[in-house]
Amino acid sequence: MKKRSDAAPKLQPYAVTTVVGKPTPRIDAYDKVTGRTVYPTDIRLPNMAHARFVRSSRTHARIVSVDVTPAEAVPGFLAVVLPAELAGCSLKDVLGRGLPILTEEPKYFGEEILAVCAETEDAAREAARRVRVEYEDLPHAMDPEQQVAAGQFTGGGWTRTEIGKPAVYQRGDVRKGFAQAARIFERTYRTAPTVHCSIEPHAAVASWEDGRWTVWESTQGVFAVREELAKLLDAPVRHVRVIGTHVGGGFGSKVAAGKYTFVASYLSKKLNRPVRCVQDRTEEFVSPYGRPPSIQTLKIGVRSDGKITAIEQKGVHAVGPYEFGSEWGNAEDMPAETYACEHVRTETYAALTNRPPPCAMRAPGHAQAAFALEQMIDEIAAELRIDPVKFRIKNLPSRDPVSGLPYAAPAGVHGLAECLKKGAEMFQWSKKQNEKSPVESPVKRGIGVAATVWTGGGSPPASVVLRIHPDGAADLYVGAADIGTGTRTAFAQIASEETGVRMEDIRVINADTQLTSYTQPSYGSLTLASTGPAVRRAAVAVRDQLAAIAAEVLETPEAQIVFSNGLAIRPAARKKPEKSVSLAELVGGSPSREIVGNGERERNPDAKALKAHGVQFVSVEVDVRTGVIRLAELVAVNDSGKVINPLGFKSQQFGGATMGLGMALFEERVFDQDTGKPLNANLSDYKVPTIMDQPEAFQVASIEIPYDGNAIGAKGLGEPPIIPTAAAIANAVFDATGVRIDRLPLTPKRILDALYPVKAGP
Ligand code: MOS
Repeated sequence: MKKRSDAAPKLQPYAVTTVVGKPTPRIDAYDKVTGRTVYPTDIRLPNMAHARFVRSSRTHARIVSVDVTPAEAVPGFLAVVLPAELAGCSLKDVLGRGLPILTEEPKYFGEEILAVCAETEDAAREAARRVRVEYEDLPHAMDPEQQVAAGQFTGGGWTRTEIGKPAVYQRGDVRKGFAQAARIFERTYRTAPTVHCSIEPHAAVASWEDGRWTVWESTQGVFAVREELAKLLDAPVRHVRVIGTHVGGGFGSKVAAGKYTFVASYLSKKLNRPVRCVQDRTEEFVSPYGRPPSIQTLKIGVRSDGKITAIEQKGVHAVGPYEFGSEWGNAEDMPAETYACEHVRTETYAALTNRPPPCAMRAPGHAQAAFALEQMIDEIAAELRIDPVKFRIKNLPSRDPVSGLPYAAPAGVHGLAECLKKGAEMFQWSKKQNEKSPVESPVKRGIGVAATVWTGGGSPPASVVLRIHPDGAADLYVGAADIGTGTRTAFAQIASEETGVRMEDIRVINADTQLTSYTQPSYGSLTLASTGPAVRRAAVAVRDQLAAIAAEVLETPEAQIVFSNGLAIRPAARKKPEKSVSLAELVGGSPSREIVGNGERERNPDAKALKAHGVQFVSVEVDVRTGVIRLAELVAVNDSGKVINPLGFKSQQFGGATMGLGMALFEERVFDQDTGKPLNANLSDYKVPTIMDQPEAFQVASIEIPYDGNAIGAKGLGEPPIIPTAAAIANAVFDATGVRIDRLPLTPKRILDALYPVKAGP
């Protein structure tokens, strides 16, 4: 079948632009900072009831009995949903593996056992507290490596394997590759389990009316939630409307429907009234979300001239007790695709454990992989006495090593090489390499660098509608969520650029399955690159119609008309002075009284590898008395093609690197190994970085490598800036102290333990 997108004519790449490329404050900034923005969590409907889960207080147990009687006595109690009522009802991951909504055999601490519903949130909380659950404890397993040794694992990554079989990627023959090596390096790295910590928790408000559901959901993807929810409710998608206009952060944890989504929707029908189900902060730490921990053993062979000959990785990560979510620890991509190497083998093990099931978290897999790969690259460069910047450039591939395809970049240009060169210059890398801290000072300075690669080309489907009203203002309808990256603003800029509608006159109506056209969720750093081109096409469709009317009014050929600042303008030419007409007059005076344009995302170019590259340079100060690391400077450089909004671009770099430094220095979910219970399930004991932790010198820049694979020339940026931070910091710590820390986070204790190893007894 021929797709409509096949026929879309190619648009000229942006040349001179006035709105696109201009630093533009977010169109919703004032509403957000003044609290006017209505998030799904803020929705209050008349006669709304409140649902709450009763969660397991054991790590693995069989439920012997449940006594709901005390809960029923709570004033305002309305209903209870027991696991038997939802038997067989489960969420599904990308590869179709299930996660039960409620369970009679909880397999991790905090797993949802039943749900209660009451008139108020307080009553629901009290009812949940009063439910008496009797457990019979069963053995639990928390250690991923022990589970792998016991055969309790499945393959991680994008291929589903049987239990007991790892996922394997292979090219060439690593034995040959290692035979060619002059030096072989091997080390095991560990990354910690972390949580997204979105400011808005997971939440849904569902209203069942006239046989249809309307669901306000804090989500990255309204259409994905609609599809999953319709399946769970056994309803056609037309009976489910999902609205997710604003979302207070997601970072990968709000890509699909949640248990709360289903329970609110289910109870709403059952009680015939709206039901709200919002997780509290503790629940955010025990429900099935988070980045899984990883243990990666990496082995790399190099020739004496510094060419990599073989890469081998054994990657273990902890999936929960179900296979559900095994794909989100896929640390095998980066070692396979970053550097040129003929012989590569990765084995990925998703260990079944009694930990909360993981999900995607900003740069899933890559953020873990970079900590290992980019430290080992640094180690090799140091051992071979080659500058780590030069070492990386020397080992860059001329094509994407995994697909064998050329990069979508001009011949001979590699995005990572350009980022490395620009970053080194901004950071003054060569100069700083020669600045050593005085030997007597207990505060040691060090510098480090690390690189990243990410797939962020975007793709169809994405459809957009742009409507110009008789007053010259516009409504832009896009399905995509703005997950905090500023895509609504960038879309408005793209529409304004073509049509001349002023930014302040564009309203973006987004993420509502009833009002807006279909898109994928906002994930994988693809939102701008997927939907942005469709916005431009819709805007061009509008402009063409405006031009046809304006040509008559302005007595000039369509091609001569410029649209800018709310006007259609005929520029001054020989004998004719400049003449203009407002868009309001044009549209208001048109026969249809409004102009509508549709745009659809074109296909990506065949046979090109769409990669977004980036690099970070850091300098640290390590106090060798306390083990405290101070991040003094960070320089981030990214290539994501055309920059639509430089302010938005920078904010992603600042935000990503800040999340990266949290991963590097503080963040770790701690579970008691004996009981399996979480020990820091709150924002007081689980530390996320604040502005006070950001480096004083924090510089960011973009490289705009020309890319004409979509109508706006942009690739994604949301995820790349978190990827290299932890490795760059660890490399700087090595430079400062001479010790390699192979485990995240880099806590003062780990630094001190590495600096002053305890010697074996006398
Ligand atoms: Mo993401 S972690 O693909 O939202």
